[in-house]
Amino acid sequence: MAYWRDTDKKFEFIRKSATGTVENWFSPNDDKIGDTVWDDVKTYENRKDYATQKHEQLLTRVIEWLSQPNDLVADFFCGSGTTLAVAEKLDRRWIGCDLGRWGIHITRKRLLGMENCKPFDVLNLGRYERQYWQGVTFGKKDKPVTEQALYEYLAFILKLHGSQPVTGLSHLHGKKGKAMVHVGAVDAPVTIGEIESAVEECVKLKQKELHVLGWEWEMGLQNLVVQEAKNRGVKLLLLQIPREVMEQQAADKGDVRFFELAYLEAAIRKPKKRTVQVTLKDFVIPNAELIPDEVRNKVSKWSDYIDYWAVDWDFRNDTFMQGWVTYRTRKDRTLALTSDPHTYEEPGKYRVLVKVIDIFGNDTSQGYDVEV
Ligand SMILES: C[S@@+](CC[C@H](N)C(=O)[O-])C[C@H]1O[C@@H](n2cnc3c(N)ncnc32)[C@H](O)[C@@H]1O
Repeated sequence: MAYWRDTDKKFEFIRKSATGTVENWFSPNDDKIGDTVWDDVKTYENRKDYATQKHEQLLTRVIEWLSQPNDLVADFFCGSGTTLAVAEKLDRRWIGCDLGRWGIHITRKRLLGMENCKPFDVLNLGRYERQYWQGVTFGKKDKPVTEQALYEYLAFILKLHGSQPVTGLSHLHGKKGKAMVHVGAVDAPVTIGEIESAVEECVKLKQKELHVLGWEWEMGLQNLVVQEAKNRGVKLLLLQIPREVMEQQAADKGDVRFFELAYLEAAIRKPKKRTVQVTLKDFVIPNAELIPDEVRNKVSKWSDYIDYWAVDWDFRNDTFMQGWVTYRTRKDRTLALTSDPHTYEEPGKYRVLVKVIDIFGNDTSQGYDVEV
């Protein structure tokens, strides 16, 4: 009212409609005011489970506006991967990252479910984070990690594990009760060779039990090394160093647990010449007592713990290349336990790597050597 009174303008913004109600009204105008309010695209998916998930329409508007096909689009907080899925659809290249394991897994399944999605790789930055943590916790600022800092790192991990440091040995760093302890480095996966050396040292010292603590593991080694150690009279336990170790508060409180790696078993069949097929046989999550009751009550068989599994038919100790994959979706909760057959072009020896992602978003891999 004040506006009408002061400007002496009438009939602007609102007027009476033909039926007598008040309606919004703008007088015809040759110019269009540019504004930043987009009221013609949907912004949120409005899903209950991911409350802030953006609508693809919104990302389509942004990506088409600001980039060309083949440009690189990045979302460093990618959540469930809407930006990446839209970038892929619009023929852009993309990079996504997220803190959350589960977000990464949802994104992976979403992209795999898209028709003609180009190949992509899921990488883990954990090593860089751990190196940084080691540097600031035990090292001197901006200096390479010294022997003293490495010693402090080992002592710190051993203390959290409840073991005592031992000195003068090559591959064994501590002792807990009757078990010898080997601690993996922060910046490299624990390798088969490294474990074999520690087992060898146990054999020499007539020690019958070995705990290996690791942040990451050479893929697919578990069943093999545990069996080989057993053959040599050493009971081997592989334990995961948890991320919480890097959180000062959790470490101070001693609130850190080292879990055994999950157990995965698969059978390899050769249905015809140069062809192999994988069947999952068993998957065991250790420390099942820590799984929340509401999850455990829904699980009636081992395969219920698996959300996704994939096979690399020719693993070469580097990146996992997904050759065959299956996973549960919201609509279809079933999961095949046998892969499609795979026929190699050339006869030869290959390493088949089977990777499982469980319903908690953790990876477990197991390797099998085949000759076709
Ligand atoms: C609202 S969601 C992202 C939604 C997504 N960008 C989209 O367009 O639909 C925010 C995400 O940021 C992640 N996040 C939070 N802090 C982070 C950090 N420091 N580094 C990486 N990701 C982070 C969370 O895990 C979460 O998945």
